[in-house]
Amino acid sequence: MSDGSRDVPAEPPAPTTPYEAMGGHETFRRLVHRFYQGVATDPVLRPMYPEADLGPAEERLLMFLEQYWGGPRTYSDLRGHPRLRLRHAPFPVGPVARDRWLAHMRVGVDELGLPPDLERQLWDYLVMAADSMVNTFDEPTGTST
Ligand code: HEM
Repeated sequence: MSDGSRDVPAEPPAPTTPYEAMGGHETFRRLVHRFYQGVATDPVLRPMYPEADLGPAEERLLMFLEQYWGGPRTYSDLRGHPRLRLRHAPFPVGPVARDRWLAHMRVGVDELGLPPDLERQLWDYLVMAADSMVNTFDEPTGTST
């Protein structure tokens, strides 16, 4: 009787991930790129990065964040289990480094112009994650005293 075009859908809509809701790859690429522009000139953070080229570090953070928010699982395919605290153990992450890390992220988050609820979700996570990465209270401050 009917060609089906006016039928009710055969299955519920696929649930969207925060990754998709936030704008997918383009959003995370912009966020991480803006963040690393800040790191590149930061007197505390820049010396902590072992490689002269920040490109590969940018790529790793991008893959990790995309995976965390429900995007492609490329990070784990290439790097294995994140174990982020362990991977940060070689770097002295104190409150100063954490605050600078978050300040560069804040610039990136602000420029995304996300809807407030998604922005809050993303920001709360970044603050929590950065806090959990602190592994010293004895850190370089980037200024000679
Ligand atoms: C709190 C201040 C932080 C500092 C100073 C810091 C610093 C660093 C440094 C120096 C590296 C090595 C660069 C590389 O070779 O990839 C690194 C790697 C990385 N960081 Fe952080 N980080 C911080 C917080 C975070 C947070 C909050 C996250 C996640 C939300 C994160 C995710 C990563 C990832 C995914 C890698 C690459 C790990 C790997 O696969 O080797 N970092 N970080």
